[in-house]
Amino acid sequence: MLRTKKLQLVSTIYRNIERIKKEIQNFNFEQSADLEVFRIKFLGSKNCIKELFMELKNVPNDEKKNVGLLLNSLKFLAEEKYNLNKLQSSEHEKNDSQFDLSLPSQKISLGAHHPLSITSNKIISIFNKIGFDTSEGPEIEDDWHNFTALNFPLNHPARDMQDTFFIQKGDKEHVLRTHTSSVQVRVMETSKPPIRTISAGRVYRNEAISARAHCFFHQIEGLYIDKNVSFADLKQTLLFFVKEMFGTDTKIRMRPSYFPFTEPSAEVDMSCTLCNQKGCNVCKHTGWLEIMGCGMVDPNVLEACGIDPKIYSGFAFGMGVERIAQLKYRVGDLRLYSENDVRFLNQFQSGR
Ligand code: PHE
Repeated sequence: MLRTKKLQLVSTIYRNIERIKKEIQNFNFEQSADLEVFRIKFLGSKNCIKELFMELKNVPNDEKKNVGLLLNSLKFLAEEKYNLNKLQSSEHEKNDSQFDLSLPSQKISLGAHHPLSITSNKIISIFNKIGFDTSEGPEIEDDWHNFTALNFPLNHPARDMQDTFFIQKGDKEHVLRTHTSSVQVRVMETSKPPIRTISAGRVYRNEAISARAHCFFHQIEGLYIDKNVSFADLKQTLLFFVKEMFGTDTKIRMRPSYFPFTEPSAEVDMSCTLCNQKGCNVCKHTGWLEIMGCGMVDPNVLEACGIDPKIYSGFAFGMGVERIAQLKYRVGDLRLYSENDVRFLNQFQSGR
């Protein structure tokens, strides 16, 4: 080969080396198949670097060493880029295969409604069916709504019946409401009969905490005011409630009692559904369970709330949600309801 031709060849080889070097450097591995494309082109049995190596024999001796070195470093560059990307893509595969899509998914643990919420929602929905709406009021009450309007005369010992928590708010004395009858006063003051309302909420009494008593509990009280409301209406309403709540065989009885805001007043017992009135330790072998207080709204209360007792009459009743829940779920210790022990709460996941 003529020397000038050889020199032309050398410069072509140099140009090709430069071109291939750029190609290698700019090669983008976008898909997994690109790795194989790269291998065939730069490292395969008929790769473009090899072709240049074949030309080495025609390179003049004084250039051979240099061209050889450049070709070797080109080959090295291709191998290095290939190995690096192979490693990365196998790592990707490994990561992908850490997910076994055939495995069952992780368990999603269900929350549970609190037994008192379940019970109080059930009670409210029973009364909703027969036309009662729901009303709410503040837990920090003034004396008027908790006592005076409800016919508790000032300094009357009846105020002590309820072990009140007194609190000073400004220069006025307030109380933590001892019953949700205070909400009923607010409803009577602001709306006109007919009134059919259920007031549910937390109430407070200054009692030592034990299995059978707590310093707070939950009440549901009902109020019905219209023309010609009678004691028979009260009795039928409560009978309907216990049958819906505890089953159609449940019976009730009423015993005379006293509340300042009702006249006449009664305690309501229902037949013991735990032993079918055969006698058990829950009903203390009487066959009856005390569940609520009730009575005809005292005319003094109607008058205090701006309702004419000559035209309207009404009945009221009040029960403890804990007591009803206790009978439904047979929970003996009242403290369980406020301890937030998930072992207790999780037992109510069915929501019934
Ligand atoms: N407020 C009474 C209590 O807390 C319950 C009750 C309500 C009694 C309505 C009679 C009528 O004990």
